[in-house]
Parts: sequence; structure tokens; C-alpha cells
Amino acid sequence: MVITRRTFLERSSLLAATLATGKNRFLETMAHAVPTMPVALDVTTLAQFVDPLPVPDIARSQGQRPSPGDPKRSLPFYRIRAQAIASKVHRDLPPTKFWSFGTSMPGPTFETRSGEPLLVEWVNGLPNEHFLPIDHTIHGAEEDKPAVRTVVHLHGAKTPPESDGYPEDWIVPGKSSLYYYPNQQEAAMLWYHDHALGINRLNMYAGLFGAFFIRDGVEEALALPKGKYEVPLILYDRLLTREGQLLYLVSPDPKSPWLPEIFGNAIVVNGKLFPYLEVEPRRYRFRVLNASNARFYHLSFANEAPFHQIGTDQGLLPAPVPLTELEIAPGERADLVVDFSEHRGGQLVLKNNAVVVMQFRVSPGKAVETGSLPSALRPVPKIPESKAVATRLLTLDEFVNKAGNPVMLLLNASHWKHPVTEKPVLGSTEIWSLINPTSDSHPIHLHLVRFQILDRQTFEPWLFQTKREFHFLGPAEPPDPSEAGWKDTVRAHPRMVTRIIVPFEGFTGRYVWHCHILEHEDNEMMRPYEVIAAA
Ligand code: C2O
Ligand code: CU
Ligand code: CU
Repeated sequence: MVITRRTFLERSSLLAATLATGKNRFLETMAHAVPTMPVALDVTTLAQFVDPLPVPDIARSQGQRPSPGDPKRSLPFYRIRAQAIASKVHRDLPPTKFWSFGTSMPGPTFETRSGEPLLVEWVNGLPNEHFLPIDHTIHGAEEDKPAVRTVVHLHGAKTPPESDGYPEDWIVPGKSSLYYYPNQQEAAMLWYHDHALGINRLNMYAGLFGAFFIRDGVEEALALPKGKYEVPLILYDRLLTREGQLLYLVSPDPKSPWLPEIFGNAIVVNGKLFPYLEVEPRRYRFRVLNASNARFYHLSFANEAPFHQIGTDQGLLPAPVPLTELEIAPGERADLVVDFSEHRGGQLVLKNNAVVVMQFRVSPGKAVETGSLPSALRPVPKIPESKAVATRLLTLDEFVNKAGNPVMLLLNASHWKHPVTEKPVLGSTEIWSLINPTSDSHPIHLHLVRFQILDRQTFEPWLFQTKREFHFLGPAEPPDPSEAGWKDTVRAHPRMVTRIIVPFEGFTGRYVWHCHILEHEDNEMMRPYEVIAAA
């Protein structure tokens, strides 16, 4: 096996027909290659802006339960059930079958406060059969494993290991897990999602995710738009059949259906296709989450209206960053403020590149704005490199077969089952150098921790792969201002070394780090790591 330089796009350009939406050319190709593959719906034939943007319900606690650490203390207790549902993604389509946490899709949003722990019982109420194509050649999804398994991870949370949703801690239908979330961290938008080993991409594609907000006093003191003026925008792309059902593409080899990335032509926002949102001529806060399997978004307004980014994955930026386009990779979150007061009575269309995502309809009335966008948000003290006690060189690897098709992706050329090699000490700070010789950008996520991006530097991949020598082709570039805050997921760009600086705080125990392109993660771009106690 050799490590390839070629991108998914280059690979798939060998294949036949392409759709106007770009990366989705597998669609028609596979429809030809596999006679039984249903034909995908051409979403451009659907009427746009006929469905209002839904906002997921707020999760409601079902009373109190004793705290696991201190039985005298009682904590809010939630019970959330993963189950099969049907939900209309568009006025003119029949209901689509999803799996969701709760009765609508995405699942309910948690509204929580920093320093206030809570308990969630995650119930697997799913059917016994999977409705998406399992690849039994993938680690953890072998024939002897139950088809339907789920385990929930709270992405971005500083959670003890037994509640972190370790990918092997899955449960089967009829079972549940009680997880404890201490919430000892700053205000941020987190998200909960399935993490079952070997089928995570399928469970997420099916719809198993939702938002989780942590609030705190620092955020509240800024008087940012709130209530109905603060709206989550959860984006995920899907392919649908003409009957409006989820289509998850497979390779022509029935024994190993896995494909390296899945893209859909339907961009769903909070459960609807091409929705509209009626807004007042004032500032709104949008909490954007990319919950897609593989798609990176480049979001902008059709009229190039400017907006501000005020926060990253792990909370507020030091100051608002003016933008006209937002790049957001799978797993990442962006906290945006958009001022509609200039657009009274107008309509703004949000696009992903050239593709329409949704519409904002600004009411004609007078702007009723109180205050202005603060110029300073929350200090993010830069961690000096000298704080790091170790630097780890970690490679992102892609392996192809003789035909040039990727068959597997790894971190540091190691499989999931190999012994744990990354063992940072609790309380210490490390630099992780993510060496990406591939031609894909990989959004790399570490559980438990938050980190800062130091820099990115282009290198010559072949020299590195053959001789382990670094030959840099340019200067180290600092992170973009929009990502110069606390992060938990970083875009490791192709042919670059991306360096992050990570304080390992919270708990000792076994966690994971992985690429958040879910097809990569499942096969097997995910590794355990272990936080160990100081000697
Ligand atoms: Cu968003 Cu390991 O997770
Ligand atoms: Cu995570
Ligand atoms: Cu990847």
C-alpha cells in the first residue's frame, strides 16, 4: 500500500457523470455501477423557502437524581431516547425516516450553566435492524457485532472517561447508559452525537445528534442577542431518494461498501431543506454547527453582506472578527452575529459556495436595537510554546489499493487496536504537530480538552514520507483571527504541518482523538489516548 497524493475529487473525476453541485459525482456513477441503487432526488427541482426554519425544542429535565460523586447532592436528570422517527424535510416531500434523540430531528437542545452538573440517561430505543449499509470489514463492525449499537459523546465537554462515550462503550436496543456531565468549563456550544465504533458515520447520517449550550456570567454580561434572537443553525448534507428517503452511497463491492467520503446535494438546516427565517431588522446571534459527515461549508450571503464571528468551538473569541465568508469543517462550531438592520424589508440568501442554503426575510419595521456589539468579548490568553513539556509528531495517513482507491486512513500509521502511544500527563501542556501529507483537509478533534492553534506550515510530503525529513516550503502561518480562540477541532490542511498547543486538564483516563470526517473516523482514523496521573 502506498500513501496517495491524490484527492477524492481527482479520484472520482475518473468516474462518469457529475452533478451541478460538484463533489456529488459518486451519485450517478454508483447508480450506474449498482443496478439496485435508487436514483437520488435532484433537489434543485424543489421549491425554495417554503418551510420555516425549525428550532429544536429545549430538553426538559425529568426531576433530580443523586450525584454520583456526592449522593447527598441531587442533580437535574434527563432521559433522552434514541429512536426511529419520520420527519418532513420539505413541504413537497413525504416524511423521511431518521433516527433521532427524541421525537424530532435534530434532537432537543440542552440549555445548561457552567459549574452546574447534570445527569443524562441515554436510552437506545432504536429498532434491531440498521437501515443503512454496514461494512462488516470495518473494525468494530464485524459480522459478530450487533447491527444496532449506540453510544453518546458530548463533543467539546470536559467529561470523566466513563461518561465520555468511548466508542467501544456502545449499548444495544433496550439498554441505556447514565452519563454525568460536570459542566466545569466556559460558555460554549457543544453537541452530543453517536460515537459507536465502526458505524458512527451511519448513525450520524441517520440523525443521531443535537446541540448542547453551556452559559456563564461572562457571556451574559456582554448582552449578546438572546432568546428568539439567538438561533442554532445545525447544518448537514444528505442524499435523498426520489421518495425522500436517506440514501447512503456504497462502493460497487458488496463485501466492502465503505466509501471514503459521503456528500449529499441536500443541505438540511435544523431539519429542513431551503428553509426561511423571518427576522427583525436588528442583530441576531447564530450558533452554527457543521454536523455533516464529510462536507466543509463556505458560507456567505448572496449579497456579500458582512457579519461577525464572535466565538469558536470552545467559546468566545477575544474580539469580534468581521467576515464575509465562514469556512466550517465537520465537528466545528462558529458563533456569528448578523446585523439585519441595514436590510429592512429585504431578503438575504445564505449560500454554501454557489448553492442556496436558506433565506432570511427581514421585516420592514423600524429597527429596535439596544446596545451595540461589544468590541471586546472574552480574553483568550495565548499559551506560550515554552509551557509545552513535549511535542508529538503525529501523521495523518491515507492508504490506497492498486486501483488508487482509498481503503483506509490512519493516525500515526496505527490501528485502533494498537497499544496506546499518546499518554499526556494530567495538568501538563503539549504541542501536537499534525503532519498531513495527504491532499485532503482533515478536521482533527481531541476529546476532553480545548486547545489553541499555533500555526500551519507547508512542507514537501514525499521527502517526509521517504526520509522523514522536513522540507518546509513557506513560513509558518498563524491561525486565522476567526480560529484564534479556544478550539476542540482543527482543520489540518493538506501538505501542511498544523501545530496545536493543548493543556491536558480535567480527568485521567482513556479518551480518543480522530478525524471528524466520519467515513475517515470509522476506517480507522481514530486513536485512543490516555491522560495519566503525574508520577
Ligand atoms: Cu464530535 Cu469524537 O467527536
Ligand atoms: Cu469530542
Ligand atoms: Cu480525515
